[in-house]
Amino acid sequence: MGRSDVTQSVPPVRVLMVTAEVYPLAKTGGLADVCAALPPALMGLGIDCRTLMPGYPDALAAIEGAEVVAEIGDRLVSGPIRIVSGRTPDSAAPVWLVDAPSLYRREGGLYTDSEGRDWPDNAVRFAVLDRIAARIAMGAAGLDWSPNLVHGHDWHAGLTHALLAESGAMRVGNVFTVHNLAYQGNFPFETAAALDLPPLLHRAAEVEFYGQFSFLKAGLEYADRITTVSRRYAEEITTPEFGCGLDGVLRRRAAVLSGVTNAIDLELWNPARDPWIAARYSADDRAGKVACKRALQRELGFVEDASRTIGTFVSRLAWQKMADVLLAELPVLLDRHPELDVAVLGRGDRDLERGFAELAAARSGRVWFDRRYDEPRAHRLHAGADLLLHGSRFEPCGLTQQYAMRYGTLPVARRTGGLVDSIHDAGASGPVESGATGFLYDAADGQAFRAAVDRAMAVRREQPAEWERMVDAAMRRNASWDAAAREYLGIYAGLFRPSSAPARAIELALA
Ligand code: ADP
Ligand code: GLC
Repeated sequence: MGRSDVTQSVPPVRVLMVTAEVYPLAKTGGLADVCAALPPALMGLGIDCRTLMPGYPDALAAIEGAEVVAEIGDRLVSGPIRIVSGRTPDSAAPVWLVDAPSLYRREGGLYTDSEGRDWPDNAVRFAVLDRIAARIAMGAAGLDWSPNLVHGHDWHAGLTHALLAESGAMRVGNVFTVHNLAYQGNFPFETAAALDLPPLLHRAAEVEFYGQFSFLKAGLEYADRITTVSRRYAEEITTPEFGCGLDGVLRRRAAVLSGVTNAIDLELWNPARDPWIAARYSADDRAGKVACKRALQRELGFVEDASRTIGTFVSRLAWQKMADVLLAELPVLLDRHPELDVAVLGRGDRDLERGFAELAAARSGRVWFDRRYDEPRAHRLHAGADLLLHGSRFEPCGLTQQYAMRYGTLPVARRTGGLVDSIHDAGASGPVESGATGFLYDAADGQAFRAAVDRAMAVRREQPAEWERMVDAAMRRNASWDAAAREYLGIYAGLFRPSSAPARAIELALA
């Protein structure tokens, strides 16, 4: 093979994604969905993309075409670590699982045990992921592939950027995406001392956060570019209100910080082809949505009547999502709106889980609750409901509201973060704004939330034509990953010399 054949057959941009979650191998939230959808979208633009994640038992069981491609040692782990290569069941995107049984093969959650307590060795678990990522990036993991760009996601990947920067090895461009600044991976320095890090990193101000060792801060300080998952959130996190103590760092790095608003997988979340819902429908023919609603009413034990309103909540039960406010306000809302029934699917805070379970028992037939993680049910809720009751004290992007809109369920949501970037507000009163897809409110309190639900209920009752127009606009909203992947490519382009092969390849892909 001549030299030019070799260059032609090897895509000049090779991206290693580093993440703790990829749907459907492992998921606790939107991070998994993004890390499942972005790589195929980048591959569609000609980028060679591989994703590295921990080898949790479910991931090892679900990955297709599994093959051990390398076996390496790490001082933090006894016994060899295997790198298992394969594909996710839903796409052709290559994934590498880090199979370190003592760290990842356990019963329980990705980050917590079955009682919801953080695994005590989380620092080691994700440091090992990052050390392997850095070794792959340096071509030192025994693989026949190495990236020229590393893209880390959330605190679990943060140390990768520090290790690359401090290694002094060949420079690999790197981008760090913050999906949620509130999860920081902060550990006592004694814990960090056990991570066998380069001595420089041990004492560096870049990893110190109020006396602790911070994986997230490492990512923010060492990455060449920082992105967040919506434009609005990229601005918000430079302020003390949303900065979680890191706004100073982010203001200092503002020149390399930008937001790319998450898209959604339009195939997986497609009411015209969804295998999990009772009837298929589309923006052009929405008859199936009524069938989905009736089926959902039967499934949840609600009165079967299409004229009633179903409000739903499909999210982690967390302070971030204002689940406490929803729980407190529900009794009032149910009394005020006799035609409203509410279904809550979510797990998280144990007190909130108990609270919702008690309310569902006391108001059965009008409130339904399940604390299981149930992906098909999430689809059925979006398909059968009318309203998504999605408060958020902060929201880096939010996918749930985008899924709801695609299924013609209108979000009631707080005017923050990605909710602002993705929802077109109807306005608080009077005629509905043209193009509106949801109802936004400002204050993070029960009164503002109630007022927004009242407004939504009033539009549905008294302005049915405008309601239908909103449903139509919500379902037709363009949320494709292709556009978002192009934005990431634009960011990647800035990491290569202007005339280099990768820069030219990106230019061509974007042309
Ligand atoms: P976050 O990542 O902050 O949790 P997102 O809105 O970005 O919020 O993504 C949440 C994802 O998790 C959505 O796909 C949502 O449907 C899903 N989800 C949350 N809780 C559950 C649950 N109990 N069962 C099924 N899906 C859930
Ligand atoms: C985080 C955020 C959420 C975002 C998701 C995917 O979990 O809380 O807003 O949509 O990551 O980027």
